[in-house]
Amino acid sequence: MEQPFQKDMSHTTWDKVYARQGLRADLMPEWFEALALKAGDRVLEVGAGPGYVSLALAERVGPQGVVYAIDRSADALAYLEKLQAARGISQIQRLVADAATLDGNFAATSALITMVLHHTDDPAAILRNLHRLLPTGARIVIGEFDPEGPCEIGPPRRVRLAPDKVRGWCEAAGFRVAEERHQSPEHYMIVAERAP
Ligand SMILES: C[S@@+](CC[C@H](N)C(=O)[O-])C[C@H]1O[C@@H](n2cnc3c(N)ncnc32)[C@H](O)[C@@H]1O
Repeated sequence: MEQPFQKDMSHTTWDKVYARQGLRADLMPEWFEALALKAGDRVLEVGAGPGYVSLALAERVGPQGVVYAIDRSADALAYLEKLQAARGISQIQRLVADAATLDGNFAATSALITMVLHHTDDPAAILRNLHRLLPTGARIVIGEFDPEGPCEIGPPRRVRLAPDKVRGWCEAAGFRVAEERHQSPEHYMIVAERAP
């Protein structure tokens, strides 16, 4: 039986999360297009989980590119490590870290933060940190579940984040919101650019 949603993901397993990521695969092309990802790019994936999206990003940036797969869960990234080893994918660098305090010099020109912010206690802190880590002009794409959606899949309405709230956090952190788009009745995405 399905356990009630927990922000820290303790209600589920990484196998189940990976399977759910696969069910959302149709959303990925729009995320990647909005980031204008091409071969050789370096991209941060914040809250990569067990890595379904990271593997697709790796295919997109190719062997000359780098995907920094960041997650606070070492177990999630160990799951991804096994998949990488089985498939011979070396352009994903895994980092166990809290995205709100993550530090480093990544030379990444974009970041993807999908289905993550509603799992965190301080989404605004993640956006402030991304502003610190990314160069001016870098693009970010945030994907979330719509509180106005039917809630037939995904987290319950009470934990979902309204697009206006996410836009406000982006702007307060120093990102200029370029676009907000509904991808399905349950999902929306926000595209923003790091302002100087
Ligand atoms: C539902 S999964 C989403 C995975 C993937 N981004 C996707 O679109 O399918 C949420 C992930 O965010 C991670 N996460 C939540 N808060 C985080 C934080 N502050 N720093 C790093 N990872 C975080 C969780 O550990 C979990 O693996």
